[in-house]
Amino acid sequence: MTEQKRVLGFIGGSGVYSMDALEDAQRRQVDTPWGAPSDALTCGRLNGVEVVFLARHGAGHKLPPSHINYRANIDAMKRAGVTDLVSVSACGSFREALTPGTFVIADQFIDRTTMRPKSFFGPGFVAHVSMADPVCPALADAMEASCEALGVPVQRGGTYICIDGPQFSSRAESHLYRSWGCDVIGMTNMPEAKLAREAELPYATAAMVTDYDCWHETEGAVEVGLILETLKRNTANAARMAADLAQRLGPTRTPSPLGVETALDMAVITPEEA
Ligand code: ADE
Repeated sequence: MTEQKRVLGFIGGSGVYSMDALEDAQRRQVDTPWGAPSDALTCGRLNGVEVVFLARHGAGHKLPPSHINYRANIDAMKRAGVTDLVSVSACGSFREALTPGTFVIADQFIDRTTMRPKSFFGPGFVAHVSMADPVCPALADAMEASCEALGVPVQRGGTYICIDGPQFSSRAESHLYRSWGCDVIGMTNMPEAKLAREAELPYATAAMVTDYDCWHETEGAVEVGLILETLKRNTANAARMAADLAQRLGPTRTPSPLGVETALDMAVITPEEA
């Protein structure tokens, strides 16, 4: 099987605004046809692997979830040569067993966002990529193994529902999403995962539980003030996971078992002009 150099992209969510362990780190401003990404990229090496880091909410957490330019973020990663993309984000839990501090390696998404551009394609060029399996199992395997090796509580698989925010859900919504079988809720993994697929980038993500949203009968409803302590712990564990993950994945790669690198081959419906 053909081996290729790996460039690991890492998008950090709430609480994860830098990757201090990067060696030879260089900030790189990247412009894209979609506008500017959330922040400059930080390119460097982590345990022998080339890594490109991006803070999803920008420096100082200035961008609310629906103001993030997801297309620019994914395009900037692609232009920087990223071959595999992983991300982390804060989330609420819909399951008693998914306690704050647990990393959920989601494998399915429900997209309830309405206010965000979701595709690189538009009038003149129509492509329908498959989102049946939105997460690369090889990256997810490695993330799970990293969490296990580090003693970070982890659940492999789970359905992540993505809402626009910035408000948290009402109690009725929280119960509804639970009844749909969702495991966790957040505001940022969509359309990130969709755009990664359109960009032919294998993608996996760890949703880091900070709270029980507001369905839980004895836990208080989610409030930013209450989740900050958990967020701090998750931030530290995300950095540990990234370092282990880089080492585990290594500097070379083989294609994703899902064939993500050729996702557009079977997706474009607009005929080529004669
Ligand atoms: N991010 C962290 N907790 C959340 C919640 N309960 N709902 C949506 N996004 C979140």
